[in-house]
Amino acid sequence: MCNKNLMSSDVFKPCNFPEHTYITRKSKDDIDYEQRLKLALNISGTLISIIGSSKMGKTVLCEKVIPLERQVNVSGADFSNGQDFWNVLAQKVGVPLEGQITENKQISNIEQHSKTEMFIMTKDKVIEYFVSNNKVLILDDFHYASLDAQKSISSHLKDAIRRDFRAIIISLPHRADAPIRKNADLAGRLSLIDIDSWKIPELEEIAIKGFNELNIAIPKEIANYIAVESLTSPQLMQYICLSICTLLEIDNSEIKVTEITSDILTKAFKFTTLNIDYADVVSLISKGPLSKGKKRSKFNTKFNVEMDLYQLVVESLAQNPPSMGLTIDDIRDRVNALINDNDPKPDRQKVKDTVIRMQKLIDEREDIYKVLEWKDEKIYIIDPLFLFYLRWGR
Ligand SMILES: Nc1ncnc2c1ncn2[C@@H]1O[C@H](COP(=O)(O)OP(=O)(O)O)[C@@H](O)[C@H]1O
Ligand SMILES: [Mg+2]
Repeated sequence: MCNKNLMSSDVFKPCNFPEHTYITRKSKDDIDYEQRLKLALNISGTLISIIGSSKMGKTVLCEKVIPLERQVNVSGADFSNGQDFWNVLAQKVGVPLEGQITENKQISNIEQHSKTEMFIMTKDKVIEYFVSNNKVLILDDFHYASLDAQKSISSHLKDAIRRDFRAIIISLPHRADAPIRKNADLAGRLSLIDIDSWKIPELEEIAIKGFNELNIAIPKEIANYIAVESLTSPQLMQYICLSICTLLEIDNSEIKVTEITSDILTKAFKFTTLNIDYADVVSLISKGPLSKGKKRSKFNTKFNVEMDLYQLVVESLAQNPPSMGLTIDDIRDRVNALINDNDPKPDRQKVKDTVIRMQKLIDEREDIYKVLEWKDEKIYIIDPLFLFYLRWGR
């Protein structure tokens, strides 16, 4: 249905709940994700674990399915310093703590005993509060909790879910799944929901639905082109569509835009990268590790500049067609195509060594640098925004 009064920023929402452009997707077993989450919430005594790459719609899914008044949202980061799980929850929902526990350098046995007792009372009260108010704990970004906290939370939850406490743990793949998914104590009491990355037709739907809401036509091939450049990310799709709206000034009632045409797209892609900055990451991986006095081989490229293998590998990632996973042969072919035709080309092993060293540099850095993952002889780009920046932002 068309609504003339909607602003483009109401329709395309890259950073929060997209009321007007929400798309329902099917999981691998052909059931809607919303349906799966509802079913899981209906089984008492289970813990729900949602895993999916960054910005694939985990938080939005929970917001869609669980009414706001039932949600209690906490982040793994709230437990990064080993704060007590039940105290954090008690504070969050406003359950009064059993008096203030003061630190005492010479804790006697009696005091130690009463501290444990208070802790149990807090736990019981919190569970009782959740159950009687039909609340659902949504523990987002579980990977931000320290490993100790993750283990301790898992064991607290194991006990709580038996008592009808409802909880959803959200985390990234490979990162924080062990304490939950590989926890023998929780075996048989887990509902697992794996959020896949987005397919082209699903991404297209966002553009089609959104522009339809704004009463603007969008040809299928244009929606498709934007979907390809969105690199599996619904967030990028929302960002790019919003950029198109801004550039075309569609909220300005004096300017009548009736259809999206292809001439705006390149500008919109570039404009979108103004919100994303990976300059430090690009600089880190294209410089490579410190070369101890040894000079790196340089290659003459079709860009009319000399590049070493690190720079070439980075450029190769950005080439067409956009791809989130490349083998060493793919990268070598792309690198070769960047080097002037009659010039010598690097051998395969050198390309592989370069990729592995790049990965090592990233592994030593903070989370923000974790844009690539070397696995099963392939390099995966795990952050779509990074690849988008490489393609359009420099
Ligand atoms: N089902 C959906 N339909 C449309 N857009 C979505 C959907 N899921 C996610 N998005 C877009 O992606 C953005 C990021 O989603 P979010 O749930 O925050 O990701 P995650 O929690 O997995 O990191 C949302 O703000 C929204 O713009
Ligand atoms: Mg999230």
